[in-house]
Amino acid sequence: MAVGVAAEVKNKLSVFDVVSEAVTLKKAGTIYKGLCPFHGEKTPSFVVTPARDSWHCFGCGEGGDIFSFVMKREGLNFPEALKRLAAKAGIEIDERTTREDARKARLREVLEQAIAFYHVVLTQSKVGAPALEYLHRRGFTDETIEKFQLGWAPDGWDQMIKMLQSRRNATLSELAEVGLTSQRSSGRGAYDKFRSRVIFPIRDAGGNAVGIGGRILPATGPTATVSDPSAPKYLNSPATGLFDKSRTLYLIERARNEMRRREEAVLVEGYTDALMAHQAGFENVVASLGTALTPAQVAVIARYTNRIVLAYDVDPAGQHAGSIGGTELFHLIGALAAEETGVEITRVQVARLPEGKDPDEVIRESPDLWREAIRTAQPIMEFLIDYYATAFPTRTPEGRRHAVGALIPLLREIRDPVVRDSYLQALARRTGVEERVLLEAMRAPTPMAGSGADGRSGRAGSGGGSGRFTADAVISAPDSIDTRVELKAVSLDERKLLRLLLLVPEQQERVAETLRAQSAQLPSTPARELLAAMLADRERDSEAGGGGRFERMRFLDALPAELHGLAIALYAERGPDPNELSGDRVRKGVDQCLLALEADRLKAQIDYIHAEIIEAEAAGDTESKARLLETNRNLYEALKSLGRRRQDSSLLASAGGHR
Ligand code: UTP
Ligand code: MN
Repeated sequence: MAVGVAAEVKNKLSVFDVVSEAVTLKKAGTIYKGLCPFHGEKTPSFVVTPARDSWHCFGCGEGGDIFSFVMKREGLNFPEALKRLAAKAGIEIDERTTREDARKARLREVLEQAIAFYHVVLTQSKVGAPALEYLHRRGFTDETIEKFQLGWAPDGWDQMIKMLQSRRNATLSELAEVGLTSQRSSGRGAYDKFRSRVIFPIRDAGGNAVGIGGRILPATGPTATVSDPSAPKYLNSPATGLFDKSRTLYLIERARNEMRRREEAVLVEGYTDALMAHQAGFENVVASLGTALTPAQVAVIARYTNRIVLAYDVDPAGQHAGSIGGTELFHLIGALAAEETGVEITRVQVARLPEGKDPDEVIRESPDLWREAIRTAQPIMEFLIDYYATAFPTRTPEGRRHAVGALIPLLREIRDPVVRDSYLQALARRTGVEERVLLEAMRAPTPMAGSGADGRSGRAGSGGGSGRFTADAVISAPDSIDTRVELKAVSLDERKLLRLLLLVPEQQERVAETLRAQSAQLPSTPARELLAAMLADRERDSEAGGGGRFERMRFLDALPAELHGLAIALYAERGPDPNELSGDRVRKGVDQCLLALEADRLKAQIDYIHAEIIEAEAAGDTESKARLLETNRNLYEALKSLGRRRQDSSLLASAGGHR
């Protein structure tokens, strides 16, 4: 389901519109009243409050938003109610997308069949033997070949086409659409695009096949003939409806869980590097398919972790093919942190590998060396300082000027003065330029390099470079969810509460119990569903013999698609990390939210009593009026004391400051 549908539906449909279809509503002051559809009653105690987007029955205690109304009334679950109301609101999640989904599913199926064909050729046919032998020689085990469905595209012009047409009912146009064929230059007819190549299936994060990569065999023995000596070493699927190289990461489908668990993603350059890493048990590794890292790829990674280690050819400007622009990445971190984007990369490090060695070789030779290289990876700023101090001869004044000129603009962007200062010291050490002088340069309005004639340092220091890596580019990437939209599905207090509960699961049951004791529920359905899903996850753990622990990955994986975006948005929301706060402060924070929600319920009750008083007055019913006024006074008292409690706990919560 599309992103933010719940929020969009809520935005388009008023609670009055939805409820008034089933209940006759009469205006009474700021609210509407009617006979409760959920229990038999003669005098109306069912209330709709447009200002709060809510309904509540003061007779039977039921209440909620448009979703819970439809769920209760029609006996639907949340996804069904959402679909129903989206249709009513004219939000298209139906026809077009389902047709497209069906088409894509078919294309994926065709691709899966091709992958299966290549795999069988590699592992079970004589023509695949040299390739199999090559993979073994490179250190890949049969288990890896099986697990990652490696394959061999046989020589000849149309073996794959013939096979898929005759045995799998694939059409030529479908094969062309997934990028498996090329058109004959003579016009009519098509031939296999991948011939005499080892095949690496490429999947999206959900595990769906989207494309393939193919590597030629090195021409060794007399049997290994490469028809075209100028053929590229690797050939990837062309861009298709399923495949967009710039937002794809090889092995993301297997790495994502481990990236979450280890809170770190390791990025390598090649298929074989990523494969070897996984074979050796380093499962948080993905490869970037030979392109320079793109904003969309960063967005994909940021869904799972905000720490990246580059085991990659990094240079500041990203000018070599396949290299990453270190400077750009650095700017990106700053830009993402400066705005309330919901997407965050907090740490980028560069791993140093032995000169001239690919991760693939390093891992094969020594997993320990690799582990150590990742563990001791350098923060990108440190890496850049080293880089420039080495690139320019800091023995000469000119060299120092260039190195300092390139780095000062980057240092300026570091917001944390302590961090900034420590890098300043590092820069002073590396260049031999005194800190006092560096500070002066930092304060100078124009970067020192700006005046220099040397384009190299000017370019590196100019920020953004090509401008590819803006925060916007990352946030607007297709895989980055729009957190602002998602979060609108719940109220502000719910949002704070849910974020705390996701980050500090120990509080989940206490909140559920408190609400139960108050016979209350969270006001919005998506919030209710999310809390229920948290409790369900604990339940699942208990049933499996665990201690009823909440586990983030299992929770997210079991969450229906409709709630996934909201959960991710809540996780991505910025704010102090509650895990760095004391347990007591977290409790207070949770209590704050609960008190705020309780105050809302009291206010709704007061609105209702006000409407009743007006009615009693109009009817000249002085006895009722006196009774209602008494109730009203009590409610105000309760609200006042609640206000005092909120203030107390907010004083406590803010005492000591965050972080
Ligand atoms: P490399 O040339 O470094 O290859 O390209 P590699 O991964 O080390 O491969 P092996 O170890 O020789 O088998 C790195 C990545 O760049 C892309 C591929 O994704 C490759 O894995 N690439 C490279 C291409 O797309 N086309 C090419 O012609 C070469
Ligand atoms: Mn290699």
